[in-house]
Amino acid sequence: MSKKFHLGWFMNFTPPDWETDWASPDVRNWPTGDFYVDMARNLERACFDYIMIEDTVMVADAYGGTMEGSLKNSVFAPKQDPVPLAVLLAAKTKKLGVVATMSTSFYPPYLLARLCSTVDSIAEGRFGWNIVGSAEDRAAQNFGMDALAEHDDRYAIADEYFEVVNKLWDSWAADAVVMDRETHTYADYTKVHTIDFEGKYFKSRGPLNTVPSPQHRPTFVQAGASPRGRAFASRAADSIIAVGTGVEGMKEYRDDIRARMTEIGRNPDDCKLLFVVSPTVAATESEARETVARMLETPGYVEKALVGISSNTEIDFSTFPLDEPLPEGLTTNGERGSLEHFMRGDGSPGPKTLRQLVMERTKRGLELVGTPEQVARKMGEAMEEVGGDGFLIAKPGWDLNRQYISSITDGLVPELQRQGLTRTEYTKSTLRETLREF
Ligand SMILES: Cc1cc2nc3c(=O)[nH]c(=O)nc-3n(C[C@H](O)[C@H](O)[C@H](O)COP(=O)(O)O)c2cc1C
Repeated sequence: MSKKFHLGWFMNFTPPDWETDWASPDVRNWPTGDFYVDMARNLERACFDYIMIEDTVMVADAYGGTMEGSLKNSVFAPKQDPVPLAVLLAAKTKKLGVVATMSTSFYPPYLLARLCSTVDSIAEGRFGWNIVGSAEDRAAQNFGMDALAEHDDRYAIADEYFEVVNKLWDSWAADAVVMDRETHTYADYTKVHTIDFEGKYFKSRGPLNTVPSPQHRPTFVQAGASPRGRAFASRAADSIIAVGTGVEGMKEYRDDIRARMTEIGRNPDDCKLLFVVSPTVAATESEARETVARMLETPGYVEKALVGISSNTEIDFSTFPLDEPLPEGLTTNGERGSLEHFMRGDGSPGPKTLRQLVMERTKRGLELVGTPEQVARKMGEAMEEVGGDGFLIAKPGWDLNRQYISSITDGLVPELQRQGLTRTEYTKSTLRETLREF
């Protein structure tokens, strides 16, 4: 097995860092996307496989029963639509994959299939769809529903949804466009067919009215972590963005997905698991540790973290005392896997207070703090134990700034490359091929 692994980058299309010493002077203009275009170019220079743009469609008020926590701290709100940004980033890069999140709970399948096909054509085969079923009743209420379907039912709906959109992408044969001047034929109608899909949840006649895109269907990214989520991901995903607690947690997750894929007849190498990590690098280890310590001491850090986890789970974490363990048996109809991951902290034995869990969250599965050389070595060692396939880098403490981005793309990644751990060039043209290269 190649010891090389893949790199992805996680982002929210929300305001970048606007209040620290590293905030960019142009931060007010973030909705233009320019800040993120600069970032995508950095990522492409560092040969990341893809950038993944997260999404939710609501302003949360789970924390304390008010929108104050979300809006004051800009946690998941305000947030712009990821798809136009994906188009912009794809247009401004040549090789980087661009993944946008869209929810099977809200997009009509036909619109989603058409949109993905259109964007994949513009992106020349580098577009990915992060398949989510959404996790918040507040989002459902923006679409005429009172509440989301129950957690596992959302996956049943997603299963059928996935079937419909794939049929729509297949409604055009790859060679349907003939452009034959002699017969005055643009597209051969015998190669385009209706799908006449009638399922339990969806009905669609088809065909799609877009031409087949370079990948034919987008690269599928997924993050389901619960048993039902893993079943879905192992059937559908080309890449899973995963939270694993420690090397053991990551290995368990990956082995489980690979076993599930083998069982249903898929080649396990066709799905790359990228584990979320939040590295901090600096010239010396003590400088890196001080950076993390300063971040954890920032006023409002704990509140911001709790607003975030409240938003994903719709549990009001403002009601729990900070210096006591969480009550037993907390559960959610939202992101179940994410709640469990949060409650495990850094994986060390408990019981832990809520404040401890928040502080351990920066370790995101694997503590990566030190010089580029130390962090790169640790990433390489972890990947060797896990077996593959790579990491999804998310900034610790959320808000992005150029200083953090370049510490990774111009500090950590060159060292990863020197150690022979990550790619130094792109050799394929589509995102799916890039992921399958090694
Ligand atoms: C790295 C990562 C990114 C995610 N991005 C989104 C997102 O953009 N939108 C969303 O609704 N859910 C997102 N999720 C949540 C997942 O879709 C899923 O709900 C979660 O991992 C819990 O899995 P489960 O639903 O199987 O319990 C993300 C999860 C992870 C780990």
